[in-house]
Amino acid sequence: MRGRGWPGRERVGKHTPGAVPSAPRQVQAAREPAAQGPAQVPAVAAAPVEAADAPAAADAPVAADPRPAAGRDAPAPAAGAPSPALQRIREALREPQPQPDPGPAVPADGEDTPIGAAAAAAVRVLNPHGADDFPTPARTRVITVANQKGGVGKTTSTVNLAAALALHGATVLVIDLDPQGNASTGLGVQHHSGVPSIYDALIDQTPLTELVQPAPGLPGLTCVPATIDLAGAEIELVSVVARESRLKRAIDGYLAGAGAGSSAAVDYVLVDCPPSLGLLTVNALVATSEVLIPIQCEYYALEGLGQLLKNVDLVRAHLNPALHVSTILLTMYDARTRLADQVAEEVRSHFGQTVLTASIPRSVRVSEAPGYGQSVVTYDPGSRGAIAYVDAAREIAERGAGAGP
Ligand SMILES: Nc1ncnc2c1ncn2[C@@H]1O[C@H](COP(=O)(O)OP(=O)(O)OP(=O)(O)O)[C@@H](O)[C@H]1O
Ligand SMILES: [Mg+2]
Repeated sequence: MRGRGWPGRERVGKHTPGAVPSAPRQVQAAREPAAQGPAQVPAVAAAPVEAADAPAAADAPVAADPRPAAGRDAPAPAAGAPSPALQRIREALREPQPQPDPGPAVPADGEDTPIGAAAAAAVRVLNPHGADDFPTPARTRVITVANQKGGVGKTTSTVNLAAALALHGATVLVIDLDPQGNASTGLGVQHHSGVPSIYDALIDQTPLTELVQPAPGLPGLTCVPATIDLAGAEIELVSVVARESRLKRAIDGYLAGAGAGSSAAVDYVLVDCPPSLGLLTVNALVATSEVLIPIQCEYYALEGLGQLLKNVDLVRAHLNPALHVSTILLTMYDARTRLADQVAEEVRSHFGQTVLTASIPRSVRVSEAPGYGQSVVTYDPGSRGAIAYVDAAREIAERGAGAGP
């Protein structure tokens, strides 16, 4: 099953391979007591002892005595009379049992066990009751996720931020602008050859309404997929009129039809770019006002960034005055390495407030999720990666609350 079910529930409590020892996430912190031995013995463990204590235990149903251990020193019962413990058990059996509180799925005091804490973290990520909705922007925020360096987490961030925003009350459209179609895969959306895709919007000017597909298991999230046809689009675009603004026209047309107040109003459009600065990326930069740059916490992370920033400046100067780098997200952060810290420090000192406080840890769960056509947020909602993406999405939402493009 996909989506809001808790596919990760069976896995909680296990060690995640490659877990970062010093990462102080709730789930991980909560796992530690389990390894320290039986600090907290579950109440049911007392049942056999209690049954043996009761003289008439043989004719009574065996049940756990809820009394604390001190209560077991009660005076001995008269011969033949049932012990106070047995009397209480019999009374309890006659009385209607109190029903469990139908309130939150995981009671707050459930967090004192590793499984309880992981389940509580998963509930916070999945937000099943809508109790933790993020603020939504006054106008649609259109965000390009770009970095011409390959494999830095553009697609992973697009998919997971979109999923996190959608789970926390926003309506999100993801546009897959990469011929690899990874964002479509990650959201579980069909994108084999022949499926109507963003190629049709760019080349034939097909309206996006004819191309969007719902992301399974994520109400509020839709995706315009990319197929392999898009690989040829960059060459085909060279000869078309207004080749840099084809995507802008498509998005503007879609948002005009889904204007504020309409049931189809969109809070965020996220565009996942290919690893190049070609015409597809230029189309994205012209179509959006915000750029989100994922930066991998690795040695070569900053190389090539200058070129991307130069392109952003050029597009702003000539084609799209509203364009600016609004967000930088540190990805694949591995706290075990000094290098990750150094890269993070350098990026933060250079870009200041643009860098989100939340960074995304390197985690096997994050890389496994696309194999199941899911975001990590739905695949393993209690995992460090899912929690980090929800934290990052919250920051993005809070920074842009009330602001338009
Ligand atoms: N936080 C993470 N922890 C572990 N693996 C990750 C993480 N983020 C991304 N990955 C993995 O790194 C690889 C590259 O990620 P992704 O596809 O998101 O990068 P990209 O920038 O979109 O790549 P491309 O430039 O090819 O489009 C993928 O295999 C992905 O599963
Ligand atoms: Mg990608």
